[in-house]
Amino acid sequence: MAKKRYQIAVIPGDGTGPEVIREAVKVLKAAESGYDFSLALTEYDLGGERYLRTGEILPNGVLQELRGFDAILLGAIGHPDVKPGILEKGILLNMRFELDLYINLRPVKLFPGVECPLKGKGPEHIDYVVVRENTGDVYTGAGGVMMKGTPHEVAMQTALYTRHQVDRCLRYAFEFTRRRGRRKALALCGKTNVLTYVYDLWERAFHEMGERDYPDIKRDYYHVDAICMWLIKNPEWFDVIVTGNMFGDIITDLAAITQGGLGIAAGGNINPDGVSMFEPMGGSAPKYTGKNVINPLATICAGGMMLDTLGESAAARAIEEAVMWVTANKVRNLAAGQMGYSTTEVGDLVATKVAG
Ligand code: IPM
Ligand code: MN
Repeated sequence: MAKKRYQIAVIPGDGTGPEVIREAVKVLKAAESGYDFSLALTEYDLGGERYLRTGEILPNGVLQELRGFDAILLGAIGHPDVKPGILEKGILLNMRFELDLYINLRPVKLFPGVECPLKGKGPEHIDYVVVRENTGDVYTGAGGVMMKGTPHEVAMQTALYTRHQVDRCLRYAFEFTRRRGRRKALALCGKTNVLTYVYDLWERAFHEMGERDYPDIKRDYYHVDAICMWLIKNPEWFDVIVTGNMFGDIITDLAAITQGGLGIAAGGNINPDGVSMFEPMGGSAPKYTGKNVINPLATICAGGMMLDTLGESAAARAIEEAVMWVTANKVRNLAAGQMGYSTTEVGDLVATKVAG
């Protein structure tokens, strides 16, 4: 059988983005040689530099081209000379809406050797996945401002969910929980005691779908404030968590620090029927730019998630195992500048291990 060839758009982006992307690509190339696929990479220049140079953020032509790829790998977006919000909205959020990347998949796994800030918790306690809805909620931009700058200013930004958005996200979460095949427990994280419209919709849809189509999956419910306590105190309770966009944004940062922080946390922005985008959770870290000290493991893991989603699960597993070997044996401190190895060396360690 002919080798599968995947078309991948690569967006290195700003700051340390290009440095971490370089290492992720190195590891993907190593995986390519050991497994039966190949990657055709096309680089796109998007981010703060281009915006400052040309005024362009995410040109329509580029967006159109992105739709034609099998997947997108992104480094980081964010530039110190660009006002906060412009690039985030213009590139990241715009891509999520336009490409309908309606799932934000965030695995939370403590790798061996990584220092965990939670007392008495190790890799056997922290291994769950957050399925964050990625297109609705306060992120839609529904709302507005009136009488701005006056003492009577009115600001309103609405949490918005349609049954369709909720159902397709829940469908993905139930299917994912079943496929994952661990404890087969799916927890809904909401706020039904205050957001009595939006999370009432989520809760009804959750139980209706679960009862009808997923009797094999245990259903739990947590308020978002309470889950922030339990993710610290008893992370081992969780298998898969599904939640709305805003709560998902918040709890996945909290979760990331329990797995060692942004040096290792990766995410997928997924359209199950289209092109998906994978990225490290961290930002462009401008102060480390060009120093070869940033941790590339999160981006390497994002590359692994990308392969998994493309169907190359053996190669994805090999990347994860290589990263676990590196954290267990080499890079114990994940912080930029404190790894004991340069960005390039960490990439080499993983790539060599993947190549076998
Ligand atoms: C994330 C980020 C984004 C979000 C920002 C950069 C717009 O924090 O991917 O979690 O809020 O979703
Ligand atoms: Mn976030």
